[in-house]
Amino acid sequence: MKIGILTGGGDCPGLNAVIRAVVRKGIFHYNDEFIGFLEGWRGVLENNFQPLPLDGVSGILPRGGTILRTSRTNPAKKEGGIERCLDNLKRDGIDALVAIGGDDTQSVSQLLYEKGARIVGVPKTIDNDVGGTDVCFGFDTAVSIATEAIDRVHTTAEAHNRVIIVEVMGRNAGWIAIYSGVAGGADVILIPERPFDLDEVAESLKRRHARGRYFSIVVVAEGAKPLNAAHLITDSDKLDEFGHERLGGIGNVLAKEIERRTGFETREVVLGHTQRGGTPTAYDRMLATRYGIGAIDMVHSGKFGCMVALRGNEIRSVPITDAIAHTRHVSQELIDVALSLTEQGFEETYTAPR
Ligand code: F6P
Repeated sequence: MKIGILTGGGDCPGLNAVIRAVVRKGIFHYNDEFIGFLEGWRGVLENNFQPLPLDGVSGILPRGGTILRTSRTNPAKKEGGIERCLDNLKRDGIDALVAIGGDDTQSVSQLLYEKGARIVGVPKTIDNDVGGTDVCFGFDTAVSIATEAIDRVHTTAEAHNRVIIVEVMGRNAGWIAIYSGVAGGADVILIPERPFDLDEVAESLKRRHARGRYFSIVVVAEGAKPLNAAHLITDSDKLDEFGHERLGGIGNVLAKEIERRTGFETREVVLGHTQRGGTPTAYDRMLATRYGIGAIDMVHSGKFGCMVALRGNEIRSVPITDAIAHTRHVSQELIDVALSLTEQGFEETYTAPR
């Protein structure tokens, strides 16, 4: 078979491991030929691709980013874009396409599949919120980086009697915030799933400091927002082609508001793209590899319109419609874990032993 591969949306450690697994198993076991469309759906739209032979994927397993590069191009937003993609796939003699990306990328996969393209999806986002699967590769790497940052910030916060806010990624779901916040022992964790009351956050920090602690760590997801706030905090008015704002700045707002309400010196650190860059953890390399193997096997068993997924510890195939139907939010059980340990859930009745 002649198979195309593309990577769309924000990059994520492990993309190259997926590409490598698809190509190696495809060539070794199915005698396939591969091309890589460059920069996500833009490559299909503009028919821009490169051959992907075996030696083209050699040495890429530990590399972050994606050798095919990526973009947030949405063919559905271009005049005749979907038809142009279908024509190009036909002209290039593509028998099947493996589309690696999050819900935006997979929404285009679904549109093309409904018009006859033979597509298999692979879920991707460090936000870990794609529906239909339990875990996305790249998430473990992001959590490791954020946890290490929180550990480092801890010692300097303690040395200076400061509150430090750590802003992490997480547009619609707080997976990175809750995992890194719990693993890093944060005092307050704020996630998109639970709009927060600024006065309560300030009170919980005052309560902690009244017990004799003189520093605090707050972890906030970029998509978390104060109760009754009309908008998310953004750092630009521009929307991408899928209609998303560019988030950023909640850490800065929080730092100012907390300092004003508590009188504690408060600083913020924005981890931003450090969470997405660099080498994937061993867990993410393994998961990405399993996804790649699952995807090429699905191509050869004709499971088009489906996405490879992890359910429990099993690789499965699910309809792409499951992935795009809903965002996978942090579970109540994990929120309860965080509340059991952080200042937010602290019982008002607790009296510190003397
Ligand atoms: O979708 C994943 C994500 O990392 C979000 O957490 C973040 O808001 C967004 O991508 C940032 O994307 P970009 O690098 O394109 O601005």
